[in-house]
Amino acid sequence: MQEQQFIPSKKYQLPEEGHVAWESPSNIALVKYWGKYGEQLPKNTSISFTLSHCKTTTKINFKKKDAVKDFSFEVYLDGKRTESFEPKIKKFFERVEVYLPFLKQYHFKIETQNSFPHSSGIASSASGMSALALCLLQLERQANSAMTEEFFNKKASFLARLGSGSAARSIKGNLVVWGEHQAVRESSNLYGVAYSDDVHAVFKDYQDTILLVDRGEKQVSSTVGHDLMHDHPFAEQRFTQANDNLEKLLPILASGNLEEFIHIVEQEALSLHAMMMTSHPYFILMKPNTLQIINKIWEFRQTHNSKVCFTLDAGANVHVLYPKEEKEEVLDFIKNQLVGYCQKGMYICDEVGFGAKSI
Ligand code: DP6
Repeated sequence: MQEQQFIPSKKYQLPEEGHVAWESPSNIALVKYWGKYGEQLPKNTSISFTLSHCKTTTKINFKKKDAVKDFSFEVYLDGKRTESFEPKIKKFFERVEVYLPFLKQYHFKIETQNSFPHSSGIASSASGMSALALCLLQLERQANSAMTEEFFNKKASFLARLGSGSAARSIKGNLVVWGEHQAVRESSNLYGVAYSDDVHAVFKDYQDTILLVDRGEKQVSSTVGHDLMHDHPFAEQRFTQANDNLEKLLPILASGNLEEFIHIVEQEALSLHAMMMTSHPYFILMKPNTLQIINKIWEFRQTHNSKVCFTLDAGANVHVLYPKEEKEEVLDFIKNQLVGYCQKGMYICDEVGFGAKSI
């Protein structure tokens, strides 16, 4: 599919006013997206577990307006007008206008809230941008009832990607691949696709407990971070490694071989951080407590013959991943040995989910 196919071909009879609402989850990458080109296109393929409880709920009231020269919208976070969000959303509107050509005809009141605490250090861009994309596309669907579910999901992911790359993986499916790869049918750089090949039962309800090590502002914005991959001395090797890891992961997802799963997932997390440590300028986004937690996880895995492992995003928080059958044991371990490394003892229990929902 080409970009042009997402440009509506007909003029639709648009509603005068109305509202739309979606909730959309966050996701956690197993093979990481780090490095982009062109208009939000990934330098390598990534795959993520969709989460269930960490999500954004967005409601948009829309009403036709007279002047159609500019975008017109206001944003409320948890019921409070949040002007600081507006530049990012304006940029998003500018990027997607060609695919949603009706945007300037409306005034939008955008009300949004996250299920996870604000400033928890959990990136809300994946859930936030996907929820916004879904709401705006829902408006188009109200005018074009012939739009198929399949096209809706693809276009929603395509639009979400233009807001934030990882948001492309938050629309549909428990495992989502974004980025073209010869090993994944229908994979595309333009949008995420639900991974539909064989997946072992153990991964259907995998657990993710997010340890909040650092709830502060992001040290490096993702845009700056991705930019660091331009002219990075190891960039090409990294993109090859990620694509190879994705290919190695697919048979593991089918067989349920957790030792091999752990190896790839932890290597991906550490490679992502290694890229940041060796870029120019360089950053260390882990905190001392991140390392303490990683060492404790390794120790616990050995002494308890457990299959617990970790992954990281571009920050200090640790995602603890484990099979559901170990839930009780791992939660005890977290409470007894890891909570002390979390800011204010905070952590969030999540698990694999299935994608966004219209509400
Ligand atoms: C480290 O999706 O936040 O979480 O496209 O600039 O919005 P932008 O970047 P973003 O990058 C997140 C990258 C990551 C790894 C991943 O989720 O794959």
